[in-house]
Amino acid sequence: MTTQYFKIKSDRDAAQIESAAAILRRGGLLAIPTETVYGLGADGLNEDAVLRIFEAKGRPQDNPLILHIPDASWLARYCEDVPDAAYRLADAFWPGPLTMILPKAPMVPLRTTGGLDTVGMRCPDHAVTRAIIAAAGVPVAAPSANTSGRPSCTTAAHVRADMDGRIDGVVDGGDCAVGVESTIIDLTVTPPRLLRPGGLPLEKLRSVLGEVALDKAVTQQLSAGEQPRAPGMKYRHYAPRAPVTVVTGTGAESGRWLRAHVPDGAGLILFDEFAPLFPANEVRTIGSRRDKAEQARRVFDALRSFDDTDVTEIYAQCPDSEGLGLAVGNRLKKAAGFHTIDAHDGKCVVGLTGQTGAGKTSVLRALAAQGAFTVDCDAFYYERLRSDAALQADIEAAFPGVLCGGELDRQKLGTLVFDDPAALARLDRIVRSHLPRAAAKAVAASEANVAAIDAIKLIESGLAALCDVTVAITAPEETRVRRIMARDCIDEAHARARVRAQKDEAFYRERCDAVFENAYPSAAEAEAAAREFVYHLLRGSKEES
Ligand code: TXA
Ligand code: MG
Repeated sequence: MTTQYFKIKSDRDAAQIESAAAILRRGGLLAIPTETVYGLGADGLNEDAVLRIFEAKGRPQDNPLILHIPDASWLARYCEDVPDAAYRLADAFWPGPLTMILPKAPMVPLRTTGGLDTVGMRCPDHAVTRAIIAAAGVPVAAPSANTSGRPSCTTAAHVRADMDGRIDGVVDGGDCAVGVESTIIDLTVTPPRLLRPGGLPLEKLRSVLGEVALDKAVTQQLSAGEQPRAPGMKYRHYAPRAPVTVVTGTGAESGRWLRAHVPDGAGLILFDEFAPLFPANEVRTIGSRRDKAEQARRVFDALRSFDDTDVTEIYAQCPDSEGLGLAVGNRLKKAAGFHTIDAHDGKCVVGLTGQTGAGKTSVLRALAAQGAFTVDCDAFYYERLRSDAALQADIEAAFPGVLCGGELDRQKLGTLVFDDPAALARLDRIVRSHLPRAAAKAVAASEANVAAIDAIKLIESGLAALCDVTVAITAPEETRVRRIMARDCIDEAHARARVRAQKDEAFYRERCDAVFENAYPSAAEAEAAAREFVYHLLRGSKEES
């Protein structure tokens, strides 16, 4: 079968919409864009057409399809006893990523509903697709357009990869705006029950419905023989070929766990902030840790993309369950067969950064005085160069001859990378993959429940993402110049040159959670102020969590 591709820009493109609708009317299969994911559509009242959906997807026939309609006025045609709540939800959220389970009317074939006497109804927020359905004049049964078991399709290219040659047509409507499937609410039970978290957050449903129960299949793997209310929730789903492990906890916690535990080469699904910490892994980012809408848009593409690689294991960071996080986390967990690791470690990790001479050490000492485990990254680096066999081996492999008698010849290494940007980049990559791992392991192994990481490149290296709270330490330029002269025994011109070579204060202020202004004339005064600051900082971060 040759698949016909449509690119329909507007719901006023009547001729194109009519040719797409004709495929549906004559019982063909048409992939349609929606705001959530692409659907594999057919006339939901035509049993033969519906059968072809199951065949094209390789989907078990007990797994019901949902009907797509152009507006809420079609509800009464295909459902019986439509409760008032359905119209209230439609008013609030349709067109949009919400599917309602309602009692079906007799005209809806059991083949469509997988033998159930209820039917899922959805009005997608995609003007072209609504126009096609209206022109076809039939409700469109449409599961997600992926091959059964694979991650859902959020681009026309994904649909082509799974369905080319197996269906009559694909309407290319661009990338899906939401990226995870619709939220499914069962309105045939009291209280209404969430069967699948999706593009419409649970909090929004509750704002209209009041109490909403959570189906067990949303949060856990059902045991053999247990029947979820949404039959599709029982199947392994969304899975790339390599096994997936989901790591839960705050972003900092899952980041620390991953950095301490995953081997080089493993596949990783990460929030953007963590990518710099894993230069030797196959990384897919899904957006900032704070941007769940972006995570929803990108999660399926990330899962799919590993099938073009030879990674043998995949680990994923998981957002918390608020808002769209519930849906993103559910898709990741389903892809993992609910294989999860809880990275909660009960620690508070404080990151310290700022320009040289700003006086980070005062704050580090104050934290140590409170019992914190401390990592001074400069000292840590030189210590690892002496003691870390894996780091040394990688450096020796890249720069043969720098290791003599188990000791790294730092001077020789220095001459090899000096003036050679490519060599420096090679060394940087090695260090960037070893140091954060060593730091994360050391923090995890320490008994202390507070740890402090002091790094001038805390932000650039990505280490800041592993911290629960970050502190910028600042001091006026003149103070810094005097401190550098005294500390490093250099003259004023050199001290000023060093200060000029640094990022300005705003860089640190804008990127850290707290600021410690260290303009104190003596170390003793600085440390007294730092102790006070640290006391409040730790109390504050405890209250937050
Ligand atoms: O966003 C979406 O909902 C996408 C787009 C294409 O609209 N569609 C979609 O369909 O995700 P599908 O078939 O991949 O997932 C529908 C889920 C399945 O888990 C199915 O078991 C469940 O909805 N479902 C359908 N009808 C049901 C019913 N009457 N009772 C309980 N669950 C039902
Ligand atoms: Mg699906």
